[in-house]
This record gives sequence, C-alpha cells and structure tokens, in this order.
Amino acid sequence: MREVAVIGVGMTKFGELWTKSLRDIFVEAGLKAIDDAGVDHIDAMYVGSMTPGLFVGQEHIGAMMADYLGVAPIPAVRIESACASGGFAFRQAFLDVASGMNDIVLAGGVEKMTDGADVTYALSTAADQEYECYQGITFPGLYAMIANAYFEKYGASRKHLAMVAVKNHKNGALNPNAQFQSEITIDDVLNATMVADPITVMDSSPVSDGAACVIVTTVDIAKKLKKPIVKVLGSGAGTDTIALHQRKDILSLEAVRIAGERAYKMAGIKPSEVNFAEVHDCFTIAELCIIEELGFAPRGKAGELTEKGETSLNGKIPINTSGGLKSKGHPVGATGIAQIVEVVEQLRGNAGKRQVKNARIGLTQNMGGSGASSVVHIFTI
Ligand code: COA
Repeated sequence: MREVAVIGVGMTKFGELWTKSLRDIFVEAGLKAIDDAGVDHIDAMYVGSMTPGLFVGQEHIGAMMADYLGVAPIPAVRIESACASGGFAFRQAFLDVASGMNDIVLAGGVEKMTDGADVTYALSTAADQEYECYQGITFPGLYAMIANAYFEKYGASRKHLAMVAVKNHKNGALNPNAQFQSEITIDDVLNATMVADPITVMDSSPVSDGAACVIVTTVDIAKKLKKPIVKVLGSGAGTDTIALHQRKDILSLEAVRIAGERAYKMAGIKPSEVNFAEVHDCFTIAELCIIEELGFAPRGKAGELTEKGETSLNGKIPINTSGGLKSKGHPVGATGIAQIVEVVEQLRGNAGKRQVKNARIGLTQNMGGSGASSVVHIFTI
C-alpha cells in the first residue's frame, strides 16, 4: 500500500443555511479544499450523503456534484452508511490512493436537512424499519434506552451526560464554523425540553445543513506540492446488528470497538498514544460509550473522566475540540468529513483558540444509526 496524506481541507459553516442549496454548499466546501491543497485536478471523488433523496428530493449526487464542481468527467459516486457516510467516503478515497488506483482524490460529505423534509422520519430510515420504527421508536428513543441501561449498570447520572454537552458547547463557542457558538450550563441541559427520557434537546445533536471536503493523495505527491503533510496512519471499519435489541449487550458498540482495533493495528499505536479525538456524539450518551470502546476510558468510567475535565481542551485526551456534533452541528453525511477537517486543522496548528497543545496524533470516529456501522481513522503530522 502507498502512504496516504490529506493535503487540503474545506467546509461550510454548519447551521440553517436556507439561502444555499445542496449543490451550493458542496461546491463551496469542495473549492475551499482544492484551493487549500493547491492541486490543479482531481482523479476521482466520493460524496458521503445519507439521504439527499428524502431531505431535498435529489439522488444521483456523485455525478451532480462532479458537474457543478467542474471536475466531470472524473468518476464520482455517492457513499452511504447513514450518519457514517462521510467517514466511509473518506475511507474509500484512502483505499483508492493507497491501492494506486488514483493519485488525487476528493472525499466530501454533504447534507441539507432544514429545507422542510420530515427529518425524524428520514433519519429513522437508518434504523430497522420492521423491528424498531414500526413500533414507534426514533433515534432519541434508542439512545435513551442506552442511557438508561448505562445509568443502571454503572451508576452514572444525567449530570454526566450534561457535562458532555457543556464541554462540547464550550469548544463549539471557539469554532467559527459551529452551528451553536454559545456556552451552556449543566442546568440548561437538565432543564431543557425532554425528548426521550433522559435525553433532552440539549443532549441531542441538532438538525443541520453543511458540507465538508478533503483532498487525499500520496505522501510522495504531497512532498512535491510542498504542503503540510497530515499522514493517514490507520483506517478501520466495522458493522453490528442494525437493531439495538438484537445485540448481546445494548451498551457495547461492537462496530466502534472493531473499527478502533483495526485502525490502531494498522497505525501500530495504542489508545494511550492518541493526543485528541473527534467522536460521534449524536447524543451525549454516545460520547461516553464511544470513548470507552476506543480505549480512552475503562468501562463505565467515561462519565468520571469527563467530570474530571480530562476530555476538555486542556485535559489528558481532549474529545470533540470542534464542538462535536452537539454544538458544531450534525448535517449527517457531512459529519465524518468535518471531523477530519478538525483533526487536520489541529495537527497543522491552525485551530486558533481551541488549539490542542502538542497535537501530534489525532483520531476520528464516525458512526451510523445506533452503532450498526462505524469507521475510525488515525492521523499524524
Ligand atoms: N441543541 C441545542 N439547541 C437546539 C437543538 C439542539 N440539538 N435543537 C434545536 N435547538 C434550538 C433551536 O436553535 C431553537 O432555538 P431558538 O428558539 O432560539 O431559535 C430551539 O431549540 C427550538 O428548535 P426546534 O428546531 O423547534 O427544535 P425541535 O424541537 O424541532 O428539535 C430535536 C429538537 C432535539 C428534536 C432535534 O434537534 C433532533 O431531532 N435532534 C436529533 C437529530 C438526530 O437524531 N440526528 C441523528 C442522530 S443518530
């Protein structure tokens, strides 16, 4: 396999982008990434998007985005794995370059969720229709079941969930691309409108529009272009049962654990060597479960780690320095790529007020549904 690097990143602001269309935001992010990389062409393109058909009635967006980005006739295709679509689009670009199939590849993600579609229905298509959705459950409900089981087993409380939201909003307040650039308190979370007990609005990622793109190439080409080289050290992916009730333990996110193990193995590092990570906090409970699966905290101890401030910007393992899905926003297909944009900016030392000191190894973890698919990447500079 060839050594792979990310040499360009670009994203739109996340939020309610009512004056811009799906193609507008993808092209905006794509042009920024191409400009940042300083390349004069790309060989192929992968576009992560969960369900543009349901959100804005548009399918076939691989070709559409290639057309509007002005890069047709290159091969371009949409990659879908629910909320992990962006992360899997990046993995595809990584495999393309590593294998020698293509030299310069754009991996992007886009979603336009606020244009009036039935968002809760569209999102629920990533769960098991027959065994979950027909019974009336939606994603806040599924994560609420995980949260209640977590409380029962480990003695954690709603305050631990709230601490995740407070931390991520604090980071998001320092991110000009975040949907919510405001700090919140534990009481704000505890007193917010209940969505599915114990998950409140403030425990939830929002409904968002946004796009993000990165340019992937070989380390050798990156050297010739004289760009800061953020190397891809490891890539891992995994799957699990799509329905939550079919898992042996609803607290274990097997796809995340397996994706993490594979990425660590390829990178040749241990979790303790990672300096910071962007993880898929679609609901606050998810961040706690994920950081345990990735080996940053022992089982049942992620709440304690958060309470001690170890996952904050100045902690031992800063988590979601961008503000995470909670505060930066979660345009589902774009999220996995936006996580990579944040890690690249941090490794380049360009993260401004939210810069992690001595950031050398960063990890991204992106997840589909209630954890039926996950993808992990590890980067270094
Ligand atoms: N965090 C913080 N504030 C939020 C928010 C969130 N997640 N969601 C909405 N708000 C704010 C809005 O900005 C708005 O503020 P304003 O009155 O100052 O303008 C207010 O709360 C009401 O917004 P509204 O859009 O009416 O909220 P809603 O009740 O329709 O939606 C949720 C709230 C939590 C139900 C919705 O954001 C949601 O479904 N989130 C989960 C998305 C999801 O499942 N993603 C996939 C994960 S697997």
